[in-house]
Amino acid sequence: MSLMGTTRDQDGRAPALELAGVTKIYGGQPPVPALRGVSFTVRHGELVAIVGPSGSGKTTLLHVMGTLERPTDGLLRIDGVDAAGLDDRQLAALRARSIGFVFQQFFLAEHSTAVENVANGLLYAGVEVGERRRRAADALDRVGLAHRRDFRPTKMSGGERQRVAIARALVGRPAIVLADEPTGNLDSATGASILDLLRELNAEGATIIMITHDGDLAARLLRQLHVLDGRIISDTDSGSPADSGAPAGSDASGGSGVPAGSGAPAGSGVPAGSGVPAGSGVPAGSGVPAGSGVPAGSGVPAGSGVPAGSGVPGGSGVPAGSGAPGGSGAPGGSGAPGGSGAPGGSGAPRGSGALGGLGEVE
Ligand SMILES: Nc1ncnc2c1ncn2[C@@H]1O[C@H](COP(=O)(O)OP(=O)(O)OP(=O)(O)O)[C@@H](O)[C@H]1O
Ligand SMILES: [Mg+2]
Repeated sequence: MSLMGTTRDQDGRAPALELAGVTKIYGGQPPVPALRGVSFTVRHGELVAIVGPSGSGKTTLLHVMGTLERPTDGLLRIDGVDAAGLDDRQLAALRARSIGFVFQQFFLAEHSTAVENVANGLLYAGVEVGERRRRAADALDRVGLAHRRDFRPTKMSGGERQRVAIARALVGRPAIVLADEPTGNLDSATGASILDLLRELNAEGATIIMITHDGDLAARLLRQLHVLDGRIISDTDSGSPADSGAPAGSDASGGSGVPAGSGAPAGSGVPAGSGVPAGSGVPAGSGVPAGSGVPAGSGVPAGSGVPAGSGVPGGSGVPAGSGAPGGSGAPGGSGAPGGSGAPGGSGAPRGSGALGGLGEVE
């Protein structure tokens, strides 16, 4: 297998996600190394919890996995396809087809009804409007909110809003669901019902990666990745060759669950443990290049299904004045603070390559 070759599941399928030596440094004074050499693999059909203290890099990791933020360095493959080889439109298409997001703050459009919010999840999937609404209604039914279809988020409880956000993430039947604290701020009964819902979806085949602060909840899942200070410090996946994360001083491409041969790209080896030196030359605005594919001012993170004006993560086309979740982004129009890579409305992260060869992920 070549150094850059993807690893395969036993059935010959490429993993849903592969990260090798992924670093993310937010620019600014001083630069913030949010991810310091993260490597792991998620197979199709897994249900994985990401746990770790506040500020440890969980949301950043989720955004990188979802291609909403570009890594500063390292390799990201989605279903065997190197995300760096895709241009913005291709990434947007990949997100629209394959990835559903549940954001840390729900990012529902307040002026739109539940069904409209969910239907927006199909905006980039090339589905005509009537069909979007039908599917949205089905998805709301699925999360137990048929009776709230025509309610606006402002008239809904936190748990109901969270379920709308989940319905929006699911309406396109994505192969991969990335959920940032989907049970955060919910009472334990509602949180448990959200978890049950995610498990059901997982049982139907979706690969689900869920950030949670809730240790009890995480303990109910088969696999937990523990994040601390931008590193994976443990991975309970018994199927991975290593589960101890990247200890200080270790090579970033090894030791945290990426099978040998998956190969971090040359130059990706920011040594975990060395941290990334302050002032290490991350170019200003490196997170999102000029000329990314989403029309300036559209304010829509192509493919993420989040409507304009509702707010999206940094690096993904943040609409003006929208704010950004988890402190990870910049309000649109402000450009990137200190080069953190989140110019408003600039759309999807980098890439320049061919979508050709990207198989259907579903
Ligand atoms: N856009 C940004 N610019 C600069 N620093 C950022 C940005 N986004 C996040 N950070 C920093 O990166 C680190 C990781 O942030 P991240 O949001 O990933 O943490 P988290 O583990 O999700 O925390 P929480 O549990 O509080 O949501 C933090 O130190 C944070 O301050
Ligand atoms: Mg977070």
